[in-house]
Amino acid sequence: MCGIIGAALRRGNAAAEVYEGLERLEYRGYDSAGLSVRTDGGTVTVKRGGRVANLKESAAELCGGVAIGHTRWATHGEPSDRNAHPHVAGKFSIVHNGIIENYRELKDELLQSGAEFASDTDSEVIVRLLDKYYSGDLLAAVAKTVGRLKGSYALGILCEDFDGIVAVKYKSPVVAGFGEKGVTLCSDIPALPEWVTSVSVPEDGDIVLISAQSASFYDGGLQSVNRVRLPVFAGQFNGGTGDYPHYMLKEIHETAATVRDTCDAFFRNVDVKRLTEYVRNADRIIMTGCGTAYNAGLAARRFFSDKCRVFCQVEIASELRYSPVHITGSTLVLAISQSGETADTVEAVSALKEAGARVVAVTNCGYSAITRVAHMVVPVCAGAEVCVAATKSYIGQLAALYLISRLTADVFTARSELLSAGEKIAELLKDNGGADKIAEICAESSAVFFLGRGIDYAVAVEASLKLKEISYIFSDGYPAGELKHGTLALIDDNTLSVIIICDESLSEKCENAACQVTSRKGKVAVITCLDGAADKLQDVAAVWKIPECEANLSPFVSAVALQLVAYKTAVSLGRDPDKPRNLAKSVTVE
Ligand code: G6P
Repeated sequence: MCGIIGAALRRGNAAAEVYEGLERLEYRGYDSAGLSVRTDGGTVTVKRGGRVANLKESAAELCGGVAIGHTRWATHGEPSDRNAHPHVAGKFSIVHNGIIENYRELKDELLQSGAEFASDTDSEVIVRLLDKYYSGDLLAAVAKTVGRLKGSYALGILCEDFDGIVAVKYKSPVVAGFGEKGVTLCSDIPALPEWVTSVSVPEDGDIVLISAQSASFYDGGLQSVNRVRLPVFAGQFNGGTGDYPHYMLKEIHETAATVRDTCDAFFRNVDVKRLTEYVRNADRIIMTGCGTAYNAGLAARRFFSDKCRVFCQVEIASELRYSPVHITGSTLVLAISQSGETADTVEAVSALKEAGARVVAVTNCGYSAITRVAHMVVPVCAGAEVCVAATKSYIGQLAALYLISRLTADVFTARSELLSAGEKIAELLKDNGGADKIAEICAESSAVFFLGRGIDYAVAVEASLKLKEISYIFSDGYPAGELKHGTLALIDDNTLSVIIICDESLSEKCENAACQVTSRKGKVAVITCLDGAADKLQDVAAVWKIPECEANLSPFVSAVALQLVAYKTAVSLGRDPDKPRNLAKSVTVE
């Protein structure tokens, strides 16, 4: 989704600070970028369609102590210069993340009273309302404006009469960050500048007056409220790509460390006793999330069915929020989300909580919306994940869910099993030539199907998502047993079927699937941790024998192998794996 950032500085150039912030925040959207800065000659705004880099030259000419900026993921109005933020009217300049659901009605009203619009966005009504309502009392104008809005919004506002920024939060994320240079606001903690040492997280409805010295918080009724300062540390921030050409490759190489750090944090930070009671008393477990987070739930269902005798279901959050399930006070909901801000996930679990369920958030981002809804948080310690396609956070989610599934049995054994899975990942990453051949075949195929049975099926679904997200090759992931119920009709010599075989008890059945595909002239690649399967399937187009692993642990290794295949395919096709077209990292609107 869109990203917003702002800086009010005691020293240094806020325009440069905000420009750098936009580069860090670009994973939230790259349809356009812009910034407004208060200069000696008044507020200056620059904006451009396309990537943040398009703004670099004009931003470099600006200087001032207070600035706001925006990266856009277009929802209303095409990606263009005209629709780029900030939007400007009278003394105001604003940046907005979210959706104003009643913008048509507001726009008609404003047009009738003589306002002229310069963009096709929903956001512009906000700045036009501010301009209309302002008569010297800034807070009153902001309160009156947001009182007219329906939808979701995180706002950064500049006003010619105030030497600072006004921030507003309602159902879209924004934090205020504090440090030696001044005060900043930002959509996400990982995109904060490194000089920030603490943050305050506004609540929904808060209005925040930010100056270079401090931030004052007000609720919707304009009563002053206190929001605690929470420490942040460098490990939470985006530290660049280092020696890697892309964030995605760097983050794949951080998967083993994510497993280790997630295990450490589980025993250090989680109230294991209370969580064990939640699991022990659960009449059922519902896991929910979107995209890759949902796929982590699919794989984890097997962990629970294997070791934890409780009925477990996995639901896509955007469906769950509109198809209520039967809940009791003992139902346990595991809300899985890297960002902790995905609107559908937050809304779905909020409804389940209201219906009486216990909610445990499994998330990579503390202080996020989902942590405020949940009764309890299980941290995923992946550090900042910048690539839009999730890699290390998926592996971290699997690790956290693996531990939860073993709480009522043998959680310490589970911990050592996970640490050994981490070692297998490291082994795989040292010797990953097998990915090259499969990626080469993927890149020349018209469609790529991923097949598996049992837990390998769950990995197939995630592998397919990863490949389509970043290579734009049509792909599907499905249970190998379903091949003959439809997908065989699509198989020809231009398609590739990647068969994942890591569960020995089902391996022969998957080998049959390989024969069914090759006998229809389809290409087959196999990823397996089993020597037997690798030997038997030597005749297919490619076989990658990955380090041996027990079935339940195999997703830690096979999923990383398939992340590498997706990455190498995308790069060989000249795609940018970190910023795939049309996607955004954190989907904070419905
Ligand atoms: C977007 C991202 C995916 C992510 C999904 C859920 O679609 O591009 O990588 O899996 O959102 O995000 P969450 O932050 O809730 O895990």
